[in-house]
Amino acid sequence: MRRFSLLLALSFLAACAPPPAGTGAGAPAGTVFPFDWEFRGLDPIGTGTQGMVATTDVRATRVGVDILEAGGNAVDAAIAVGFALAVVYPSAGNIGGGGFAVVRLADGETASLDFREMAPMLATPQRFLDEEGRPTDASVLGHLAAGVPGTVAGLWELHQRYGSLSWEELIAPAIELAENGFVVTQALHDGLAARQTRFAEFETTQQIFYPGGEAPRVGSTFQQPQLGETLRLIAAEGKSAFYHGAIADMIVDEMRRSGGLITHEDLRRYTAKWRDPIIFEYRGYTIASMPPSSSGGITIAETLNILEGYNLRELGFNSPEAIHLIAEAFRRAFADRNYYLGDPDYIEMPVERLISDEYAAELRAGISRSRASPSEQFNRVPVLQEGSHTTHYSIVDGQGSAVALTYTINSGYGSGVVVARAGFFLNNEMDDFAMRAGYANQYGLIQGEANLVAPGRRMLSAMTPSIVVAPEGELRMVVGSPGGPRIITAVAQTIINVIDFEMDVRSAVDAPRIHHQLLPDAIMVERNGIDERTRSVLEGFGHTIMSRRGYWADVQLIIREPDGTLYGASDPRSSNSRAIGY
Ligand code: GLY
Repeated sequence: MRRFSLLLALSFLAACAPPPAGTGAGAPAGTVFPFDWEFRGLDPIGTGTQGMVATTDVRATRVGVDILEAGGNAVDAAIAVGFALAVVYPSAGNIGGGGFAVVRLADGETASLDFREMAPMLATPQRFLDEEGRPTDASVLGHLAAGVPGTVAGLWELHQRYGSLSWEELIAPAIELAENGFVVTQALHDGLAARQTRFAEFETTQQIFYPGGEAPRVGSTFQQPQLGETLRLIAAEGKSAFYHGAIADMIVDEMRRSGGLITHEDLRRYTAKWRDPIIFEYRGYTIASMPPSSSGGITIAETLNILEGYNLRELGFNSPEAIHLIAEAFRRAFADRNYYLGDPDYIEMPVERLISDEYAAELRAGISRSRASPSEQFNRVPVLQEGSHTTHYSIVDGQGSAVALTYTINSGYGSGVVVARAGFFLNNEMDDFAMRAGYANQYGLIQGEANLVAPGRRMLSAMTPSIVVAPEGELRMVVGSPGGPRIITAVAQTIINVIDFEMDVRSAVDAPRIHHQLLPDAIMVERNGIDERTRSVLEGFGHTIMSRRGYWADVQLIIREPDGTLYGASDPRSSNSRAIGY
């Protein structure tokens, strides 16, 4: 509830006289946010010509900008930010998780790196099911929940291929933050305090993150000497410290103490993998996004290909007609996501067809302009039971090279397990698998056989780091978000906001979003994100509307104008996020 006192007055002004389109704050002409919508362009944006970094934590953003100013490129900055977030944003920033990066160099070379976690070789569905065959919470809390971490291998691989500054130089800011400490924010305190009971059984977690028996006080300085030492090892020995050396020993010891599955062999065999990005066109723009083991790229490609057949701009931002079409596109794309997608090293997927214009046209032909299609018509996974925390950053350097990177330990603070002597949280990414086809995971996603847990497999993700290139061939946008399945819908809508509704950087991020993931068969809307008339038209079309409070993705967006000027906006839904340019 930030800035509430200003909002009543400003919301009236904004609704009556929206500021002109452009690069500053406020909704562009023709775009009116609902009267009582909370986010109205009051947060700062970053501007610059030499570089831009947008992350969920201003201290990590500053680390990225410092690296760019020291002569590093966008990839150097991405590596340094990744390590810095692992210190200052332990709910999602990590070395105990995994993620994805899409890189586009100034010369147009585009690549994507999969450093998603992998199931340990001892992982089987039975370990995560009860006697009746129902999933337990072992995939969410505790040692069994952890997949083999990929982040250190991923950041190392990025450095091997594209880094220009030394590896040690890129980790140094994170070491300093860990050893000298940083000021505890309200969000860090609240996030830890809310989980103290849940994490009570994890001794190391209590020792490090609840010093004196409680979450660190707001305004106090929080130091992490063990994590500092871990980072020093990684700086000195590279990824082998983590996968072969002392840190591997600590992870395996931690697993042995409490029935976890990760072995030395799992860590030794882990590799980050370069994959061909998903590349598709939307209204003349070329979008590069993440291929499986993320579902992000395919699902937004399918969604946007369907939507390309409609004039969303004419329908109007947030109009019931536009929301209906966007929801119908998401519904169909999520049906395919949940049924077909999984780890490409284990599963055959009809990727070319799913992202083709012909397939989009077939799907579009089944969409009524005024009638919701029931999800049961599309769902191919038998539903047995219906039922976040990730972070994204976007970086552009002075040459025009760009990195979109999303990484995660899954839900906030992952499995709750901190590795003894190493000082970092392990992920609970095993929950992104379907333990049994047809059972919802913690995001309510009902997934099929293609994403069943199996030894050595990577669990399907929704992470959607994406880079958009203008029809003239110049970089246009770098975008991504956390939020489980809402990542896909948040990224798609941010792209639509810029391309279809011509919103400036701040409005595109602030704008209310909707979400549809096939099941539950409902359009989820943010609180006050649609007005009463819109709700009643959508209900008249046959949609169920679910209004959800609270956390709703955390978009980090950079827009590059044709003259080279960079604008960055971090999501006001996250309290410490910040884009800085220079
Ligand atoms: N852990 C959330 C995702 O990868 O989609």
